[in-house]
Amino acid sequence: MLFNIQKLQSRYPEQWQKSTILLVTAIVTEIFVGGYLSSLAYAKDIQPLSSITANAHMMDELAHSCIFKELTKLIYSAMSTTEKEFFARVLPYPVCWLVDNDLNVWDTLLQEINFGTGRSMINDCRVKLKSPMEQADFSSLIKLAKEIGIDDIDTRILECVESLNRAD
Ligand SMILES: [Fe+2]
Repeated sequence: MLFNIQKLQSRYPEQWQKSTILLVTAIVTEIFVGGYLSSLAYAKDIQPLSSITANAHMMDELAHSCIFKELTKLIYSAMSTTEKEFFARVLPYPVCWLVDNDLNVWDTLLQEINFGTGRSMINDCRVKLKSPMEQADFSSLIKLAKEIGIDDIDTRILECVESLNRAD
């Protein structure tokens, strides 16, 4: 995540742009984590203690995600047109970073420790996993983006996914 943030920041010269990238990353992370945790909190195919722990974490996140949403609305409404356009342009990036399954990283790690069936496990995951955007719940973030006036957030996220796929 940090590498991705720094890489994106390096493309923009102004400090306010770099700060906005940090801000959108914090917003997306805080709002997304609830959707991610809910998929674990209600899972029936994992250890009960794991889902109970995820549920407790989710409750904590839900308690303060509404504060983040209100702060986002306040900050965005105080931005200039140029700042708002930049905010909307970079908002999809943390979404793309968070849904990345990191299968290449896991493949490398398993190869490093000579885990015998590692490669075939990873290849099974490549076949069985839905596309990252399908398996993640970004409904809260999309709802918030539309509430503040970024109506084309879905298109922006898809374009971001495609551009990052082309860059791989
Ligand atoms: Fe949080």
